[in-house]
Amino acid sequence: MHVENRWNARLYDSKLDFVSRFGKGVLEWLQPQPGETILDLGCGTGDLCAEMAKAGAVPTGMDLSAEMIDTARSKYPALRFFVANAETFVTEELFDAVFSNAALHWMKRPEAVIRQVWLALKPGGRFVAEFGGAGNVERVVQAIRTVLADKGRDADSCNPWYFPGIGAYTWLLEQQGFVVKLAQHFERPTELPDGEQGLRHWLDAFCGPFFADMPPQEKDETCAMIAERLRPALFRDGSWVLDYCRIRVAAIKPPEQRPLP
Ligand code: BEZ
Repeated sequence: MHVENRWNARLYDSKLDFVSRFGKGVLEWLQPQPGETILDLGCGTGDLCAEMAKAGAVPTGMDLSAEMIDTARSKYPALRFFVANAETFVTEELFDAVFSNAALHWMKRPEAVIRQVWLALKPGGRFVAEFGGAGNVERVVQAIRTVLADKGRDADSCNPWYFPGIGAYTWLLEQQGFVVKLAQHFERPTELPDGEQGLRHWLDAFCGPFFADMPPQEKDETCAMIAERLRPALFRDGSWVLDYCRIRVAAIKPPEQRPLP
C-alpha cells in the first residue's frame, strides 16, 4: 500500500524548523553565486530559497505539496515557487544548479528523480543534495515495525522512505552520467523541540502513512507505545534525540565536449 505523507505547513514551520536550519550545512556545499539560477527540489516552506536569494542567486522552489507552496509564496512573495512531482517534472528553463534538502528520501523512484534533475541542468551544472541515508532513524523504524506488528499491521508495506547507502546512490548518479565530486554519509543525532511532546509532533508530521486509516484513539495508543519502546535509547535530559543519518552529495553534469579542430 502506498500512502503519501500529508504535509501541514504550520506544524512544519512551528515545530520542525530544524529541518531547514540543518539545511544551511548543505548550502555550504552549494555555495550559491550571484545571478545563478537554482532549482530547489522539495523546497517546503521556502526558507532555503530565501537563503539562496540573500546570496544573490535566483532560486525557484518546487514541492509536491500545494500547502507548502502556498505558505512559501506568502512568506517570500518575491520568489518563484511551483507545485510538481520530482519524479516527473519537466522544465523548459535549464538551471545552473539543482539543490535538495531533506526531500529525496520521500521519493521512492530515485532513478526517475535523478533523470529529471539531469534534464533540468545546464551542461556543467551541479546537483547538491542532502537526505536520509542507510540507517536513518533506524531505531524509530524498528519501534514502529514492532508496535504495528503486535496490532497485526505490516509497517514495511507502508514505509514511505528511501534511505540508500552512499555506494548505491552515487552509483545511480554515475549511471545517469553525473560525475560525483563529493559524497558523505554521516550520523547526525537530532534533538527535537518541545520536550516530551517532541516525538509525537514528529510522528504526526512525518509518519502519516504508518497510521493511515487508524482511528484517532488507536493512533494515540500506538504513538504512546512507540514512545515507551524508544524512551530508554532516545530520551535524554528532557528531550528526544533521534538517530538521524544523512547522505550529502555534490555531482556535476559534464560540460558538452567541443569537437577537436
Ligand atoms: C527528514 O525529513 O529529515 C526525515 C523524514 C523522515 C524520516 C527521517 C527524517
